[in-house]
Amino acid sequence: MSSSLPLAGRVAFVSGTSRGLGQRFALTLAEAGADIVCTSRTLDSLRDVQEKIVGMGRRCLGVELDVRSLDSIVAAMQETKAFYGKLDILVCNAGCNVRKPAVDVTWDDWNLILDTNLRGSFFLAQQAAKELMIDAGYGRVILIGSVTCVSGYAGLAPYGASRGGVKQLAMSLADDWGIHGITVNVLAPGWFKTAQNAVLYENQEWVEYLSDRIPVKRPGAVNDLDGPLLFLASEESRYVTAQTLLVDGGISGGATKAMVVKK
Ligand SMILES: NC(=O)c1ccc[n+]([C@@H]2O[C@H](COP(=O)([O-])OP(=O)(O)OC[C@H]3O[C@@H](n4cnc5c(N)ncnc54)[C@H](OP(=O)(O)O)[C@@H]3O)[C@@H](O)[C@H]2O)c1
Repeated sequence: MSSSLPLAGRVAFVSGTSRGLGQRFALTLAEAGADIVCTSRTLDSLRDVQEKIVGMGRRCLGVELDVRSLDSIVAAMQETKAFYGKLDILVCNAGCNVRKPAVDVTWDDWNLILDTNLRGSFFLAQQAAKELMIDAGYGRVILIGSVTCVSGYAGLAPYGASRGGVKQLAMSLADDWGIHGITVNVLAPGWFKTAQNAVLYENQEWVEYLSDRIPVKRPGAVNDLDGPLLFLASEESRYVTAQTLLVDGGISGGATKAMVVKK
């Protein structure tokens, strides 16, 4: 392995790597030199991504993980410890969403979203810190948030509450663990087409409406997240912690036009 790779010798755990943004995060970190832990609730669905990572010359451990179960989280971190003996980077990506008008949200919808996105992220980060990062005196914890960390959208009440919680979690954990050399930040994507929301992008009228509200005039492409992820995962981000980095083409900056803008 070339030592010019910025993450050579590092181990990165990315939750939810069977598809979508999490899979891209794992591949991006592997390309930068890190060995990887991939996770899914169904190990079979990790085969492709594991093959790609091993094909790059990195090691890749596939682990079964359901972030709604503490036993599963504890077991996944123990497997990581047994296999690599260390963990430098944790990306809490596993997440879900249910889009509904607030009046139709059920008790179970709320529990599914909050348990997965907020409770799951907290306990995964807790286990990583407790089992591996604190003793090593080093860690880069990256919680995946969303533009809903900082703004509200109809149809996304529980999801937005979970992401607002993730933003707060990063601030509290950063203060808790800064003394141990662990930084905790949120990488908050804007609007990216994945399996989770593909149906929205089938409606061209909606895509045009969305694009018009984004200052850079398009939804995100997955490679828009590569650089921000690598920055937060790097040694060089050592003095950046408790922050929420929005990668959203500017939509969170406020999108009501004060004048007609033409190209
Ligand atoms: N797409 C966007 O525009 C966007 C924007 C902002 C934030 N995000 C967030 O970014 C993350 C990835 O989004 P995505 O669009 O790539 O979603 P996705 O395609 O639905 O993928 C979600 C991933 O999370 C895993 N997952 C779901 N529930 C889990 C659980 N209980 N335990 C463990 N893993 C679980 C899934 O793994 P298995 O099903 O294989 O277990 C899957 O790999 C999510 O947290 C999402 O909320 C997405």
